Amino acid sequence: MSQPVEAADETVRADGTPVLTVEGLDVTIGGAARAVRDVSLSLGRGESVGLVGESGSGKSLTCRAVLGVLPPGCEVGQGSITLTVRDGETDAPTELTALSRKGWNGVRGRRVGAVFQDPASYLNPSLTVGRQLTEQLRVGRGLSRSAAHARAVELFAAVGLHRPDELCHQYPHELSGGMLQRVLIAIAVSCEPELLIADEATTALDVVVQAEILDLLGTLRQERGLALLLVTHDLAVVAESCDRVVVMYAGEIVEDGPTAQVLAAPAHPYTQALLRVASIGDWGRRELDIIPGRPPETGENLPGCRFAERCAYAEPECTAGPVALRTLGDGRRARCPLPTRPPGLREPADADALPAAGRTVAAQGAAL
Ligand SMILES: Nc1ncnc2c1ncn2[C@@H]1O[C@H](COP(=O)(O)OP(=O)(O)OP(=O)(O)O)[C@@H](O)[C@H]1O
Ligand SMILES: [Mg+2]
Repeated sequence: MSQPVEAADETVRADGTPVLTVEGLDVTIGGAARAVRDVSLSLGRGESVGLVGESGSGKSLTCRAVLGVLPPGCEVGQGSITLTVRDGETDAPTELTALSRKGWNGVRGRRVGAVFQDPASYLNPSLTVGRQLTEQLRVGRGLSRSAAHARAVELFAAVGLHRPDELCHQYPHELSGGMLQRVLIAIAVSCEPELLIADEATTALDVVVQAEILDLLGTLRQERGLALLLVTHDLAVVAESCDRVVVMYAGEIVEDGPTAQVLAAPAHPYTQALLRVASIGDWGRRELDIIPGRPPETGENLPGCRFAERCAYAEPECTAGPVALRTLGDGRRARCPLPTRPPGLREPADADALPAAGRTVAAQGAAL
């Protein structure tokens, strides 16, 4: 069967300059086990992309590779990660996998910001939050002490923190989880990065605060043209906040494309299964229990599709050889060897089977 060549560029919006282009990325553990496999994705300027997939599928390692902060024992095995930032009137591409430690100082925190699930662990408990933000502004933007303080107050206000002047003198333990996450976002955007990576940044927060933080990220994206890579376990969040979605399974991208189309008519059986799980209101880390079977061990090499063992539509050809990510048109790709959509999807997607957010998206899609 002929397979169209993978093309990461296809996923960049026609009007969008790619800020981040990841091509053929492998992250290995212990020098051998491929925990992230041949991942290719792009983010256009001001675009938001959701990265979803069950626990252990390689979302965080992908983000950490982009940030150059892989855990000990993990390294980029192959592939390229290119960050393209504005340098005056021109676009300046930087190959991140080739950066020296010093080179990273000009990128991490300045051109690429990040927020994670547990904000407290990324802040120094013995320094006021104001000091931590002003330090970043002084080092990253070369501001004087007083200019940095003034800017810190502006930034804290911009991320929705009340009485920002007083807040500057508070320590992390004096603030709630939602406030700490806002502080971390203020620090992350303080040097006006082109790309913000949010790895489960709202997972630990209650639903109301979670919605507020997502709103804040959306506003920052619009106002500053930030590209946003949003890792989440929540498809409703993706439906609400992301232009495109990338679905990972067992280290690989199995499907990506515009959020509305993917959620309304998933092309890969795994995405379809995720939507089913979401529709029964039990989305979260229990998807492993709900989709029958287990994913392959991290780094386990299989001859064919890595989802085949759990797939309701698997046929002998699925396990016969490597399965490429096929371009489906409309900026969509799927890693399914079946020549057409899986049998269960030949009928139009049953709107009632979608989660609430998916239903909204499907309804919007239908109205277009
Ligand atoms: N420091 C590490 N040492 C060894 N293995 C690791 C390390 N970090 C991640 N892994 C393994 O790599 C695989 C991918 O991990 P990763 O953290 O990227 O998953 P994830 O998709 O972010 O999962 P989650 O949704 O639970 O955050 C997992 O099997 C994990 O156990
Ligand atoms: Mg993770």
